[in-house]
Amino acid sequence: MKILIIGATGTIGRAVAEGLSGRHAVIKVGHRRGDHQVDLASLDSIKALYRAVGPFDAVVCAAGLAKFGPLAELTERDFLLGLSNKLMGQVNLVLAGLPVIADRGSFTLTSGVLSMEPMAGSAAISPVNAAIEGFVRAAALEMPRGVRINVVSPPWVKETLAAMGMDSSTGQPAASVARGYLAAVDGAMNGIVIDARVYAGHGA
Ligand SMILES: NC(=O)c1ccc[n+]([C@@H]2O[C@H](COP(=O)([O-])OP(=O)(O)OC[C@H]3O[C@@H](n4cnc5c(N)ncnc54)[C@H](OP(=O)(O)O)[C@@H]3O)[C@@H](O)[C@H]2O)c1
Repeated sequence: MKILIIGATGTIGRAVAEGLSGRHAVIKVGHRRGDHQVDLASLDSIKALYRAVGPFDAVVCAAGLAKFGPLAELTERDFLLGLSNKLMGQVNLVLAGLPVIADRGSFTLTSGVLSMEPMAGSAAISPVNAAIEGFVRAAALEMPRGVRINVVSPPWVKETLAAMGMDSSTGQPAASVARGYLAAVDGAMNGIVIDARVYAGHGA
């Protein structure tokens, strides 16, 4: 299959690209890096990406910005970042991609366990992740031509915690988080929220 990975230059996306590369033709898309560039916050940019890559079988999105911070310090602008980038960016990947994706293709999006398991600081992220999961469950009911849509919900990734200088012992390695994406692309599931922790302890 020809698979577009949005966020392929990032921590999770890189591991997904490694996991899929052996069996599939992977197009690595970043914001500034990668084979192609896209800005998730811009529908025009997403449409330009699809025009540039031509026909494809699957889209994996491991990208999307949202603001983490104390509730008392969050502004409307902070909430709008997540809504316009992580939520609507992924929704627009689907809306603009549906007319061009191959029959029986698939979309695999990204949320995060903060959707159901919030923590202090996640008030602007949790609703975005929950909305993505709600979108996927509903959109799956109307996918045409055998197209599937799923979402992977990662926990804190070990490499991310290490990069932030935090205790990474509780984080899940990106390679095993990637297993959730591989299952969505290669499997037959539709409308599923995949808790990546199911794959903890598995390599890519
Ligand atoms: N890492 C975690 O612990 C964790 C946990 C739960 C959920 N998540 C979610 O998983 C997703 C990926 O996280 P990550 O940690 O792998 O991210 P990351 O390492 O920061 O990488 C971000 C990726 O997204 C691309 N990107 C940045 N801004 C973009 C934009 N405006 N439009 C399109 N692409 C853009 C980057 O491209 P360039 O390299 O070209 O800039 C890069 O490929 C995010 O939605 C995040 O919320 C992550």
